[in-house]
Amino acid sequence: MEQRSTAVAEAMDDIRRIEDELGVTRAGVEAIRDRLVQLAGRRELFPLEDFPAPDAGEEDDSYMYRIAQDDDDRFALYAQTTSPSATASTPVHNHTTWAVVVGFDGQELNRFYERTADGSVAQTGEHMVEAGTGVAMLPDDLHAIHIEGSSLNFHCYGLALERLNRREYYSESDDTWKIFSNIDGIKEARSGLQSC
Ligand SMILES: [Fe+2]
Repeated sequence: MEQRSTAVAEAMDDIRRIEDELGVTRAGVEAIRDRLVQLAGRRELFPLEDFPAPDAGEEDDSYMYRIAQDDDDRFALYAQTTSPSATASTPVHNHTTWAVVVGFDGQELNRFYERTADGSVAQTGEHMVEAGTGVAMLPDDLHAIHIEGSSLNFHCYGLALERLNRREYYSESDDTWKIFSNIDGIKEARSGLQSC
């Protein structure tokens, strides 16, 4: 646990420095992604039993664990786990801050989009996030994710999820853009802090 805390703190120090030196740029977020791939490569520090997923059939099919976050809510790192029966998808959305997803266990399909002239979206590419790989997005970049079955992936944002109250998503059924409701239920997994 202490080794994990140290390794996470070192990674977050590097990520703060990367953002400071490269800014919120494509090169900057890709360097942050590469640093998190390196952290996720320390597999012995993140035993899956420390981040239990919901049981199959539970109402929630994913849990989010907070692993790091600055006092001012910047530089937030989470582990997201999904249950064996999960079929989890998000609509196309932005983040209003930079965002990085790095694989650890299982697979998370990331599809990327651009806005079209008529106000909808068109896919521009995709990447299967799994161990050893990740994706990096600028604040306005659009993606949607799809997960089948068990997974654990790391998600890192320039600002904590609870503070991202202007994230937009494209509602396909209504053919319109809407604002994501605030996320809640994040489980505390920072050392020395109680689970909430
Ligand atoms: Fe996202």
